[in-house]
Amino acid sequence: MKKTGLFISFEGIDGAGKSTHIEGLAAAFKAQGRQVTLTREPGGTPLAEKLREMVLHDAMDSLTEALLIFAARRDHLQNVIEPALARGDVVLCDRFTDATFAYQGSGRGFDLRVLQQLETWVQETSHGLRQPDVTVWFELDPAIAAVRLAGARVPDRFEAQPVEFFQKVSDGYAARAHSDAQRFVRLDAAQTREAVWQQLHQNFVQRGWLSTRAT
Ligand code: TYD
Repeated sequence: MKKTGLFISFEGIDGAGKSTHIEGLAAAFKAQGRQVTLTREPGGTPLAEKLREMVLHDAMDSLTEALLIFAARRDHLQNVIEPALARGDVVLCDRFTDATFAYQGSGRGFDLRVLQQLETWVQETSHGLRQPDVTVWFELDPAIAAVRLAGARVPDRFEAQPVEFFQKVSDGYAARAHSDAQRFVRLDAAQTREAVWQQLHQNFVQRGWLSTRAT
């Protein structure tokens, strides 16, 4: 029997600690014989990775930033995400459109109606708007995230923002989670890494996506 594809995105402010859990899930799905496409935004294709470099490092106005991010998303959807879902893969995507609403919309204060328009143009399919089946939101107090990030590496245009910016981003995620509660899994990312992992794994077991043994 052909398995249907699964589209899972991961969100949270910088420093919330998504990466190790995304890798853990990729390993857990593979251990069960699933094909996994591990990818990220902005990025995931050669063209979108070039756009990512610009968005993270070059100065630009907020409309240009939003357009480049959605251009990258279009290329990524067409060349990686849609083909992977059609094959029946589990697509694990480090950030997707909720990040645009949180960072460009809430963080930068960019017009949410324009973002909604872009979302419709870029994500429309013959079966409606493409959205993740589930979005895992690592929620963390921006003050804790700032301590975690301090001195970790040379910051990009977003990581260099003050804690107030991340508070707005966090509020943006909360608003998206509120408006689409069914899709969101909220994890308290202030817990230990192990506790976060147990909670995440358990949630996927309950959905029937992973077997009971936590890896
Ligand atoms: P991130 O996902 O944190 O990757 P890394 O762990 O390599 O730093 O970095 C991507 C940055 O891009 C992050 O600061 C959030 C930002 N971003 C947006 O502003 N809008 C978006 O739509 C997306 C997908 C990301």
